[in-house]
Amino acid sequence: MANVLRLAVVDPSDATRESIKSMLLGLDTVWLEAECSRYEFFADVVSQTHPDIGLVSLDHDPEKALRLIGRLHESSPECNILVVSSSTDGGLILKAIRAGAKEFLARPVRIEDLVEALGRIRERRFGRGDAKVRQTMVIAVAGATGGVGATSVATNLGCILAGNEGNTVALVDLDLCLGDADVLLDTIPDYTLFDVAQNITRLDFTLLKRSLTKHSSGLFLLPRPVQMEEIPHITPDDLQRVIGLLKATFTHLVLDLSKSYNALDQVALQMADHVLLVTQLDLACLRNVVRLLTSFGANPGLSEKVKIVVNRAGLDSGHISLKKAQETIGREIYLQIPNDFRTMSEVRNNGVPLIEQAPKAAVTQAIIQLAAALTGGGASEGEGSESTRTSLTRLFNFWPKGGPTANK
Ligand SMILES: Nc1ncnc2c1ncn2[C@@H]1O[C@H](COP(=O)(O)OP(=O)(O)OP(=O)(O)O)[C@@H](O)[C@H]1O
Ligand SMILES: [Mg+2]
Repeated sequence: MANVLRLAVVDPSDATRESIKSMLLGLDTVWLEAECSRYEFFADVVSQTHPDIGLVSLDHDPEKALRLIGRLHESSPECNILVVSSSTDGGLILKAIRAGAKEFLARPVRIEDLVEALGRIRERRFGRGDAKVRQTMVIAVAGATGGVGATSVATNLGCILAGNEGNTVALVDLDLCLGDADVLLDTIPDYTLFDVAQNITRLDFTLLKRSLTKHSSGLFLLPRPVQMEEIPHITPDDLQRVIGLLKATFTHLVLDLSKSYNALDQVALQMADHVLLVTQLDLACLRNVVRLLTSFGANPGLSEKVKIVVNRAGLDSGHISLKKAQETIGREIYLQIPNDFRTMSEVRNNGVPLIEQAPKAAVTQAIIQLAAALTGGGASEGEGSESTRTSLTRLFNFWPKGGPTANK
């Protein structure tokens, strides 16, 4: 439990203490070391248990709580004090900070705010560059046109990432009208994105995980709504909170975007660390890639996150060479996935991921390579980095002699 933060909480109100506890218990990066219902005992609890965080609820008796914060700051300076209060009185917040609080959270506590505060404390505790500090990687998978292979990439990438024991991975199907990630995984989910979004304020982490469908690969799926009528009720704000909550629970999130680039897709693009723009090497796709990149350029930071993934590479008819494609779109191709209609049809029809059905196939190996390039660290430094070039070189080895035709 090297990077787990140990936390002790004091809140004389049973109801609010239980609610914050249920939030914390679902987080696998926090260990609830001790809980206390009396302000006057808490300094002793902290000095005996040495938690990384002392969470103090102010509401029951702000004056007593402020005195406690001052005492804790003196007697246990290594303990980061996190204050929770329903008061928005600036004077009270200032007093808490002056007494020694490091973080202040307004009640009702939003899970994403709690997670962010814990992240800042973790950074102070373990250091920013410490490899042990776990950060969730959010991967948005977008497509240059319909049917380009975005869902195939998203689901198989998710399954491959989930195959690593150290990872917990969730896939969110954001193609709200026609999404088919559940079909590719052959699952019949009980709950959808709509249910989770509707109950977001009441969900804790345990409930959230129970609302997702776990595939045999280990991948958790949050599917698109069942009823079309439910779609307008999912707002960008809801999605932002759902992603925030998922980020607190999983090490990797894969978001399968719709092709309409609507407001929800924009949230996903903004929140992603990597945007995989899946394209094929034909004129219509490449023209859309150029248009999309131009449009992404208007959003600060978005363009830099985009990685162009060529799918169905080697497909003969009407295809443009890799070199020409790179010239047209003005950037390097991050990775190529070979065309393999037979294998892809089999996995789709059987509802079995590539890694299970055809682990040795070149198409599977390419997506394994994609997962490695994304998680290996070096590739995220940008296209054309040494590691990306290495991944591509290794990838070419999966093709029959001579490489893909598009590359000739
Ligand atoms: N590398 C590949 N080789 C051959 N066929 C592929 C490959 N990748 C995907 N396909 C096939 O292309 C079709 C479309 O794939 P998929 O549904 O993943 O695309 P999509 O971009 O998500 O489509 P949509 O726009 O409908 O969401 C499927 O029949 C799939 O099996
Ligand atoms: Mg799709």
